[in-house]
Amino acid sequence: MEIILYAEGLFKSYNGNNVIKDISLSVSKGDFLSIIGNSGAGKSTLLYLLAGIEKPDRGKVLLEGKDLFSLNDTEIAAVRAKKTSFVFQFDNLFQDLTVLENVMLPGIISGRKRKEIKNNAELLIEYMHISRIRDSKPSEISGGEQQRTALARAMITNPEILFLDEPTGSLNSEAGNIIMDILKNLNKEHKVTIIQVTHNITNAQRGNRIILLKDGVIQEELTTELDINTKN
Ligand SMILES: Nc1ncnc2c1ncn2[C@@H]1O[C@H](COP(=O)(O)OP(=O)(O)OP(=O)(O)O)[C@@H](O)[C@H]1O
Ligand SMILES: [Mg+2]
Repeated sequence: MEIILYAEGLFKSYNGNNVIKDISLSVSKGDFLSIIGNSGAGKSTLLYLLAGIEKPDRGKVLLEGKDLFSLNDTEIAAVRAKKTSFVFQFDNLFQDLTVLENVMLPGIISGRKRKEIKNNAELLIEYMHISRIRDSKPSEISGGEQQRTALARAMITNPEILFLDEPTGSLNSEAGNIIMDILKNLNKEHKVTIIQVTHNITNAQRGNRIILLKDGVIQEELTTELDINTKN
């Protein structure tokens, strides 16, 4: 399986506090990886390093073989925008824009034709089952709908890798399940590589790999039953 993301010997500390300690990890194209662990274990920090949002003190991250941190900040931002998307736990939608406009925005910034982006955004909105509220403002829609809007917005640039920090963290289980079904589908049908941080073990098991982080180190890697079944 082709390796899409490879991290080697990552270290990160904040104010002398070692948060990530010598983490190495390789992610194959098409993986759906869940990172779990206690609060403060370093999950978000690891995700930021893998996504190139934060720089490690030591170690490297190769994205499709390219050494991310050997690039300057502008180049890193360009690679990130082209290849990846990131959904933050409390992802802020622009309150003055409609659902459709929010989804279109990263596409517009990327400089593609407006008409093409609009068509693409409408398809994504349909895919996320939020067509009904496409002209609503974020304040007028539910938390689950906001999260699905954030997901559609993340997908508008057609990322190879989708990073998500607690994508269902603020949602009830029903709204959370809808998000997880969508992610599963994006991974299976659209071959998007997914790396998510989650507290929820059931949601973690929707992926094919689970990494347990403890005090900044990978304590264990588990393969989910789902994955074992598909391999047999
Ligand atoms: N920007 C920062 N400045 C200083 N300390 C930080 C910073 N970011 C994270 N930390 C510290 O690093 C440790 C790991 O934080 P991190 O956010 O990665 O944990 P987490 O596993 O995502 O936790 P949670 O489940 O609560 O989100 C924590 O002790 C946190 O206080
Ligand atoms: Mg976190």
